[in-house]
Amino acid sequence: GLPAGFAGRVVRWQRSHGRAGLPWQGTRDPYRVWLSEIMLQQTQVSRVLEYYPRFLSRFPDVRALAAASLDDVYACWSGLGYYSRARNLHRCAQEVVAVHGGAFPSRAAVLETLPGIGRSTAAAIAAFCFGERAAILDGNVKRVLTRVLGFGDDLAAAANERKLWEHAQDLLPSRDLQRAMPPYTQGLMDLGATICLPRNPSCLLCPANSLCVARAAGNPERYPVRTRK
Ligand code: ADE
Repeated sequence: GLPAGFAGRVVRWQRSHGRAGLPWQGTRDPYRVWLSEIMLQQTQVSRVLEYYPRFLSRFPDVRALAAASLDDVYACWSGLGYYSRARNLHRCAQEVVAVHGGAFPSRAAVLETLPGIGRSTAAAIAAFCFGERAAILDGNVKRVLTRVLGFGDDLAAAANERKLWEHAQDLLPSRDLQRAMPPYTQGLMDLGATICLPRNPSCLLCPANSLCVARAAGNPERYPVRTRK
């Protein structure tokens, strides 16, 4: 990869310092991982912890969710906000049952065709559940990667966003690193949420600080660059 050793550092850091013990981390069941990723998209972990077990006891698997009425799904989602997520959750469950025989697809490229699953969420599910070498790139991870790489191109331009996706793919753990994809994927999320903050990042605690172009230049807060369109 470009900064050699980046993936290994993220993996080791996640295993020793990353978030652990959350209910969706102890499973490779794609239904449970998918549900957690959708809930976590716009909702804080502390709040998801209240809703996630209740939702799972009400809808224990994808067939139960697909068979429920939309009103029942909304009722269980009530308070989490962004109700389009609940509608897409229900539509996605129905499509998994109708098109995929009740089993979530294992490949990110196929997961991405399902309602409410974007490219980054598809990659997270494929990496966590199946170890696929698929890159995630949500808002927090864009901040981590643009800083490490010193990627200063304007992300408002689609061509630059595509370039950053290619960098994200290049930085993945190498193929011979078995079982690295789940901790690597979680580690990037955890770094972005707890260390590589928008303001006053905790660079002293970062496992990638010695590789980070933005830190060497003394300007991590300048990244990511995004002008208004
Ligand atoms: N946000 C999105 N996915 C997450 C995850 N797996 N853990 C913590 N926060 C997240």
